[in-house]
Amino acid sequence: MADFVEHATDGDIHILRIANAPVNTLRTEVRAGLLAGLQAAQKAGAKAVVLMGAGRGFSAGAEMTEFGKPRQAPGLNEVFDAIEQSKAPVVAAIHGHALGGGLELALACQARVAAPNAQIGLPEVKRGFVPGAGGTQRLPRLIGMEALTMIVSGDPVSGTRAGALGIVDAVLEGDLEKAAIAWARANAGKSFTLARNRTDKTQGQDMAAFDEAAKKLLARSRGQESPKGCADCVRAAFTLPFEEGLQVERDTLARLVAGEQSKALRHILFGEREVARIPDVPEGTAPLPVKKLVVIGGGTMGGGIAMSAANFGLPVTIVETSQDALDRGIKRCEDNWKRTLSSGRMTQAEYEKRRANLTGSVDFEKAVGEADLVIEAVFEEMGVKKEVFARLDKAARPGIVLASNTSTLDIDQIASATSRPELVCGMHFFSPANVMRLLEIVKGSKTSAATLATALDVGKRIGKLNVVVGNCDGFVANRMNGKRGLQIEKLLQEGCLPQDIDRVMETFGLAMGPLAIGDLAGLDIGAAVRKARGTVAPIADAVVAAGRIGQKVGKGYYDYDENRKRMLSKEVEAIILDTSEKMQVRRRKIDDQEILERLLLPIVNEGARCLEEGISYRPVDIDVIFISGAGWPAWRGGPMFWADTQGMKAIRDKLAHYAEATNDPNLKPAALIEDLAAKGGSFAAMKGSKV
Ligand code: NAI
Repeated sequence: MADFVEHATDGDIHILRIANAPVNTLRTEVRAGLLAGLQAAQKAGAKAVVLMGAGRGFSAGAEMTEFGKPRQAPGLNEVFDAIEQSKAPVVAAIHGHALGGGLELALACQARVAAPNAQIGLPEVKRGFVPGAGGTQRLPRLIGMEALTMIVSGDPVSGTRAGALGIVDAVLEGDLEKAAIAWARANAGKSFTLARNRTDKTQGQDMAAFDEAAKKLLARSRGQESPKGCADCVRAAFTLPFEEGLQVERDTLARLVAGEQSKALRHILFGEREVARIPDVPEGTAPLPVKKLVVIGGGTMGGGIAMSAANFGLPVTIVETSQDALDRGIKRCEDNWKRTLSSGRMTQAEYEKRRANLTGSVDFEKAVGEADLVIEAVFEEMGVKKEVFARLDKAARPGIVLASNTSTLDIDQIASATSRPELVCGMHFFSPANVMRLLEIVKGSKTSAATLATALDVGKRIGKLNVVVGNCDGFVANRMNGKRGLQIEKLLQEGCLPQDIDRVMETFGLAMGPLAIGDLAGLDIGAAVRKARGTVAPIADAVVAAGRIGQKVGKGYYDYDENRKRMLSKEVEAIILDTSEKMQVRRRKIDDQEILERLLLPIVNEGARCLEEGISYRPVDIDVIFISGAGWPAWRGGPMFWADTQGMKAIRDKLAHYAEATNDPNLKPAALIEDLAAKGGSFAAMKGSKV
């Protein structure tokens, strides 16, 4: 056991160090080692025991690979019992992370000390469940109402803040082990009250105030169950004896772990690792070295991309066509950073560091000549893109990657303007590019593995979640969501108002409904695309024709006040009713279930087509894309996961029904869905990609 828990002494102070690199999870051997170490320390007459983590931190909690498997003895509770019964006080000394079970272990100790920059929290809510080793009962007994926010949000606090809250007894500077030993020696004789026996912070509290605070916190969780479960457990800490509270925690945990939402969250957690395995990039493919990024175009996207690079320490130059446009682009970045600075979320030193990474140039050839990677973000027009890429090809050093941020255009055509198509790929960022995590990396038919590896490396270095996708109109997120548009138009014609559609999607869990998003992005964009393609959408077109092109003019599907607050619009209602009448569509009441199905099924169907065509490698890639780039909440697990919860036969039948009822050919079930339905299959059970 010595491997997993190191035992040392400093006079009569014993030190137990959890040594399970990299993050000291509490695997069976660690639990057994702790138990043995505690017993040995007692036997040796320890005056106090300092419990800490070796290496980077205290402990990141339970071992995920033991999750769902039969429990091996000893359990955490046995370790906690041994700590709580120890005559010598056990002092948890926290540096790095004490998260989940790691913090729960510390909470069971007689005392806790921490380094100022330690990260301390109970993030279980984000996995769809509640802390399961007494965290919901001990933390409130230590810090009262503040525990509600910490456990319901799952967000960690710093060691310094933990000291102010009373989670830790002392915040110690310098070498933590030395300081903790000294602290334990000085305080060993003191009488400590275990967290389980504390009553001063929980008894006689104003429970009406508690319920009010819980209600406010839960209002943000939009249908996610685990925050409510957390609040219920914390409430039990205020109203029930310790052991009964533990039972509430155990029951809640069991219920939530078995539920669909925590399954969805685990699916996404696993998926975020899975998407990094890319069949077209053999393991060991070396990325090309990138020390200097050049972004062509300093507009909405170019500026955001440049900020991402600068934020993460990658020097970047924006190239614009005129000094004026360049100054505007750089100023937008500066203003954005300054907002973060004035809100206190960034220090002046950090601002200066980021700002120093950003330069601008109007000398295309010179700037591009110095680049290790170029990302183009100019106007969305094939002619313009080709011209820019031909020029890039001449100005850039041979052998460097040229990427496009195009959201719809054919990467192969863009690549054909160069003499290096194998070094061309798409790097499709999402708006706002400095905020959104998703980066679709688009593989053209000639894109090499080294090119993809380079884009993946840079994406990762600038904080993005990379998903490699194939080359097609709209790539994955926009292509799939795009197919929903026709149903939105039809729903408006048949009986819905914008607020009905947005309400259903927001109740489903999206932060914003599709029409509100349209207002935010600008309805003129979609109108231009329809015009270019020669398609019509009578209601959407009429809304734009009325000058209602979105938030930028204070009106779109909704009216907006000066604070951009969304309000229902009588004018839009009149436009919609009028259009239905002109089209001789008899409006009817459409229930929420039908709205939901008609908005989700087109997405699922197009996702299946992306899989058939090899645009996405695996269903989980699509799910990760929707969670990280299309506003889906992680606890929904993404559209393909959702489809599996409905069953493939039901998906096929409903698609077929709506394809006929709404005369929308997009809804004809994709061959893959027909196939899976016929074989009783599911997206989850698909093995690897079809390509
Ligand atoms: P934008 O109009 O805000 O910016 C384009 C910028 O490129 C302008 O500042 C323009 O002066 C500059 N530019 C044009 N030709 C140039 C050249 N030859 N050399 C240097 N600079 C040049 O456009 P936005 O929204 O930033 O879009 C850029 C690209 O990003 C487009 O391909 C678009 O499809 C794509 N995209 C846009 C998203 C969005 O939400 N706006 C999302 C994802 C991708």
